[in-house]
Amino acid sequence: MARTSRIPGFFKLPVSERRRVVAEATHLAAHEFDACDARGLDVATSDKTVENVLGVYALPFAATLNVQINGHDVVAPMVIEEPSVVAAASNAARIARIGGGFTAEADPAIVAAQIQLLDVEDTGSALERIREASSEILALADAAIPGLIARGGGARSLDIRVLGAPSDHMMVVDVFIDCRDAMGANLVNSVAEAIGDELAVLARGRIGFRILSNLCDRRKVRVSCRVPFEALATEEMSGADVARGMEDGSRFAELDAYRACTHNKGIMNGVDAVVIATGNDWRAVEAGAHAYAARNGRYEPLATWRREGEHLVGRLEMPLALGIVGGTLRVHPTAKLALKMTGAKTAVELAVLAATVGLASNLAALRALASDGIQRGHMGLHARSVAVAAGASGDNVEKVAARIIELGDITVDAARKVLSELRASEPSAAAVAE
Ligand code: MEV
Repeated sequence: MARTSRIPGFFKLPVSERRRVVAEATHLAAHEFDACDARGLDVATSDKTVENVLGVYALPFAATLNVQINGHDVVAPMVIEEPSVVAAASNAARIARIGGGFTAEADPAIVAAQIQLLDVEDTGSALERIREASSEILALADAAIPGLIARGGGARSLDIRVLGAPSDHMMVVDVFIDCRDAMGANLVNSVAEAIGDELAVLARGRIGFRILSNLCDRRKVRVSCRVPFEALATEEMSGADVARGMEDGSRFAELDAYRACTHNKGIMNGVDAVVIATGNDWRAVEAGAHAYAARNGRYEPLATWRREGEHLVGRLEMPLALGIVGGTLRVHPTAKLALKMTGAKTAVELAVLAATVGLASNLAALRALASDGIQRGHMGLHARSVAVAAGASGDNVEKVAARIIELGDITVDAARKVLSELRASEPSAAAVAE
């Protein structure tokens, strides 16, 4: 049976049953989901991972369903604390599916090692000398990363730029490394350090910083979807009206950086959740995404939406440096499981999935903003967490949440009151046993 991400009624199942069903849908053994109970890293491993450790900090680990990319179903793992993001992304992926799902592709895993050169008296002739020595520089770079060369990666090209005014006497050499299935930070930093001295000699200057750039604009992902208008309809609005509202919202983000920031936040809700679930560096992803959004000298949306005939078409483009080897994945049982759930065999496949969940999250947010507003959907989930905070458990969570929504008072105090009324009206255990 092919992998599937369509599991109707999934949210109603108890957690143990959800694990069994996802195991089946992703072709994993049920026992592999025991990793969900490990709460990620144990304290001893954490103590070897960072400094001054006090313990571990857990977040919800969930599955986004309905995702279909280039005709293949994928269950997307998400780690996120914000209510409604997982439900919204799953619902948006279901809507996108009606139009054939998502189409996506990605660049190879190229990351730049940056070498800053200072006190370069004659930047013009330094540039010439470095250019003439390019092949030797690239060979020196490759010599620093034999493991990556064995896996088919390595230094591909270099770029030399003079920075600032002539009086700055500053240059940068960017060496572009194909990192294959690694995120690449360690590999690229090793290259930067290995070739820095040689470049300084060639430039007849002084070596400065040697570090990767997180603006990986040669490692981009492109995702799109074509949603028929009718799939966007709500109880109160036609699909055509919702589509128009979503296009208007997209234009708003294209014209206003204040809106673009929030629009991109909604995209990163999806992207980051997959990035964190799979043990990747979300700070690097965030830094790259926002630098890319500002590449034209203005902060812009990473995804845009347009009506084309009877369809609304969404397009997302962003840099994404993710790995499926090394780093956290070596030690984190839930991150390992998350990666297995995706079925990704390459870093490119994982990047495509993260970006797709980003576009699904954006679709969900824009559809809500163009129709009911964001609060209606949020309130149900918010009310559930308020009910839990008030001490409700089991079936009582839904009952308390429903009642405080009905009362229009979604506060812990109101939830406590409802809970004690519920408990008072329930037969006691002793009475049931009699
Ligand atoms: C909330 O986490 C994300 C949204 O604000 C995104 C958006 O406004 O597009 C709903």
